[in-house]
Formats: sequence, C-alpha cells, structure tokens
Amino acid sequence: MIALIGALDAEIEEFLRQAEDVRVEHWGPPRTSLQSVYHCRLLGQQVVIARSGVGKVMAAAVSQRIISKYNPRQLIFTGIAGALNPQLRIGDLVLGAELMQHDLDATALGFRRGEIPYTDQQICRGDEMLLNAAAGVSLESGTVLSGRILTGDQFISHHNRQSYLTEELGGDAIEMEGAAVALVAYLNQTPALVARTISDLADGSAAVDFQKFLPLACHNSFQLISQIFPRIR
Ligand code: ADE
Repeated sequence: MIALIGALDAEIEEFLRQAEDVRVEHWGPPRTSLQSVYHCRLLGQQVVIARSGVGKVMAAAVSQRIISKYNPRQLIFTGIAGALNPQLRIGDLVLGAELMQHDLDATALGFRRGEIPYTDQQICRGDEMLLNAAAGVSLESGTVLSGRILTGDQFISHHNRQSYLTEELGGDAIEMEGAAVALVAYLNQTPALVARTISDLADGSAAVDFQKFLPLACHNSFQLISQIFPRIR
C-alpha cells in the first residue's frame, strides 16, 4: 500500500476524483474533521490518501499515524510551494532531493539553522528510488526538477526580507509540511518523496497566486503519480 498526503482538500482533490472504492475516516476530536483519510484504489494500486491540514505538526501527526497504523510501502507528499530560486517558474514541479526546517533556529546555542539540536541532523533526503522514478516524469505544462525544499510554519510573502532562506540555506522552494513528513518517514525508515508545484514566487503576490494556481498544482500531482506508479510497483 502507498500513502499519498496533501495539506489541503484542493491538493488531493484530483486523486479522489480518480479513486475507486473510497472509504473515508475522519481523524481528530469528535464532530471535527481536522484530518481526513481515504482508503481506496487509485490507478490499480491500493492507497491511503490523506489530507493533513497545514503546518509541520499536522503533517507530522498524520504521517506518523499512517505509518504506525498501515505501514505503507512508500509515502508521497504532494502540493504547492513558493519559489525561492529565481530560475523556477509557476507550474514547475520541484522534487525534494533535500528538505530542511528553516524555522528550527537554535543558532543562539551555536547550532546551524535548521539543525535539530544535539543530533547533527539538519537535512533529510528524499528516497533515491522515488526521486529517480519521478525525475522521468513529463508534465503538460511545467518542468520537473530536483532541489532543496525549505519547510516552516510560516507563509512566506516577502522572501527577500529573510535572506538566509537563499543565502545561508540555499533553498529552491518553500512550503509548510515537507521536511516534517520527511523527518517522520526517516525516523520510521519509510521511503518518502515530497513533490511540490510552484504556485507563487514567495513575494508580495504570493497570497493571490497560491489560490489561483492550486488547481494546476493538483493536476501536476496527478500526472506525477500516474507516471510513477507503474515504475514503483
Ligand atoms: N506554499 C505555497 N506557497 C507558499 C509560500 N509562499 N510560503 C509557504 N508555503 C507556501
């Protein structure tokens, strides 16, 4: 079984439209649906599709629960991101070769930005086999590239005011869940891939652009999954 996770309903919508035999489970306190999990078949594979909600805690919680309960063979997180690398265009798909928590900051204690204190752990790497399978994907519009994805509990709308994101951390794209998912997967030794479509340039237009380009991102995620599923059986 493969787990597919997205933060927002819009980010998993196309998966659900194409899914068969769907059974839904809501996770969270009674009378809430903070996190939704759908058991179904997609493109001939048994999958669990989850909507985590936004931010590192929500993403980590759903990832750990899915791994503990269902022990998926692979975990794939898809959705949108802001671009930090000026060569990226809206619609490009960034594969998380490396992921880092940009807002984990114990520099005052002498640790590197993003480093989990007392562990030497700063960067999580995407699973090699999944990255290779995804590198061969072609999109109707947009280019597929590998890069460094930065994650934090902040929506970034003026990235040039946080110059460390590019100058110190060398980020290509920025979002709010990927490094949390990658870290939980690493702790559990579950192969994982984070793949993000660029929805905005993390600048003054980000808030408007990210809404506008969500459907494109969702379509890219479906193209990615439909092309890599036959390669990762
Ligand atoms: N997800 C999509 N765009 C983003 C941005 N600019 N900052 C953080 N997360 C994002």
